[in-house]
Amino acid sequence: MKRFLDLADLERDAVLDLLALAARLQKHPEPQALAGKILGMVFFNPSLRTLASFQAGMARLGGTSFVVTPGQGTWKLEHRLGAIMDGDRAEHVREGIPVLASYCDAFGIRAFAEGTDLAFDLAETQFNAMAATVNKPLINLESAVNHPCQALADWKTMDELGVPQRGKFVLSWVKHPRPLPLAVPAATLHMAAMRGMDVTVLRPDGFALPDAIMEKARRAAAASGGSVSETTDRAAAMKGATVLYAKEWGSTRFYGDVEGDSTLRSQLGDWQVDERWFANADQDCRFMHCLPVRRNVAVADHVLDGPRSVVLHEAHNRMPAQMAVLHRLLANSN
Ligand code: CP
Repeated sequence: MKRFLDLADLERDAVLDLLALAARLQKHPEPQALAGKILGMVFFNPSLRTLASFQAGMARLGGTSFVVTPGQGTWKLEHRLGAIMDGDRAEHVREGIPVLASYCDAFGIRAFAEGTDLAFDLAETQFNAMAATVNKPLINLESAVNHPCQALADWKTMDELGVPQRGKFVLSWVKHPRPLPLAVPAATLHMAAMRGMDVTVLRPDGFALPDAIMEKARRAAAASGGSVSETTDRAAAMKGATVLYAKEWGSTRFYGDVEGDSTLRSQLGDWQVDERWFANADQDCRFMHCLPVRRNVAVADHVLDGPRSVVLHEAHNRMPAQMAVLHRLLANSN
């Protein structure tokens, strides 16, 4: 494996191998596996879990890491091609990214969607332009429409909890004060479909996931024996659900239109998960969320603190899942 950018780049068996490696590393640590190796990471957007779990995971494998957050103690980086750089951005990613990558053995990039042009974001234009300048093993730390590290950890979590492969997985839109990117919903939908689950996307009108994201998930489901559907009907979606995965995202009807999005979401006050959502779900239905989550906006305290919630389990699994990725990319490499 040379790059970890999208679970869809891997065969299902390769994902299962990564999950087995993650479990093995958890049970039988290899504190020297990556001795002498360096992971470099650039974060154009904030992080708690991704940053800390990669640094901790790299250290647990005997390697080391550095993190750059452009503009915080470093030059601000320009990413627009053809930009006339007479503003506050002193360096272009076309120099900055390959320079950073040249210092390490593997490199990771976090660069969220711009959120103004859906086609631009769906094409991963910004991430791909930077990725093209990196000639080292590369990891997607969350891009415009993907978060494969989160997806891998969530798959691991469901396996450990015994969530049936053909269980019903509901990915639901939930409230947030402002539009958030499509990366986690897109990656989560694809992951659950690839796992072979019966996936329902539950979302209000105006928040349908783009066709390209739905089609990608349907292809994964067709290959794994799962299914993908979507609805605005909460009761129908939650009937028999084994997982409710809550996520916030921006209106696709008003993509890049902050005012239009704001008006629409202001009418969606009842899209906060509480125990009533589980009335006709499987009695053991789990509540999942990638974090960070806004308490009593996206989900009520009693769900987040209750027995259904596995959010801390998911967050912890980021580390072993990523250790497997690092091991695959770097162990025994010259
Ligand atoms: N879930 C996730 O990626 O968390 P961070 O944004 O804190 O890294």
